[in-house]
Amino acid sequence: MIILVPPSTISTHNTILFSSLLIILLFSHFFFEIHFQLVSNEWAIKALSDEKSLTTEKVDEIVNEFLCAFKEGVLEEKGWPIDLAAYKVSKVAMNAHTRIVAQKYSSICVNCICPGFVNTDITCNTGPMTPEEAAKGPIGLALLPDGGPSGHFFYRKNIPISF
Ligand SMILES: NC(=O)c1ccc[n+]([C@@H]2O[C@H](COP(=O)([O-])OP(=O)(O)OC[C@H]3O[C@@H](n4cnc5c(N)ncnc54)[C@H](OP(=O)(O)O)[C@@H]3O)[C@@H](O)[C@H]2O)c1
Repeated sequence: MIILVPPSTISTHNTILFSSLLIILLFSHFFFEIHFQLVSNEWAIKALSDEKSLTTEKVDEIVNEFLCAFKEGVLEEKGWPIDLAAYKVSKVAMNAHTRIVAQKYSSICVNCICPGFVNTDITCNTGPMTPEEAAKGPIGLALLPDGGPSGHFFYRKNIPISF
């Protein structure tokens, strides 16, 4: 996760003034898989798709439901992903929080981006992209002028994808 805050938005008391805050979250290609795998969990899909009533509390509720299913060993029966489950659900939650923040605070520019499959520790260095190449997407987003897109998901080349 990268949170980029222009110095001018920090007051002398170190409180952040949300005048032009830019938040970029590193999302994952698992988004597409998650969407598919969560289809059988109709309650979660419905809650996440309902833009108007989606709240931080609702996202917490969904994550807690997942945790309960994980502890009870019933992930598959309840329609949750079964491999890299926590990673995937954490990304779904981040995706939802992105939309919530974007809707609630119009002065904040908040977006998710999947950098691609990158050669880092998390992929056990199996990704074909170098971190330098992968950084181009998030850096490109960070350099967008004020008033740019917010609440969007980007994949590598900065093409907006609807949630
Ligand atoms: N690599 C990819 O292909 C890829 C693709 C899509 C999205 N992403 C996302 O990009 C982000 C960065 O991934 P990366 O590829 O740069 O992975 P990485 O090289 O493994 O780096 C992960 C970083 O997160 C830190 N970290 C791990 N657990 C933490 C915790 N509990 N509290 C605080 N810091 C923690 C690690 O710190 P330490 O080094 O101190 O452990 C490390 O600096 C992740 O959110 C990942 O999901 C990566």
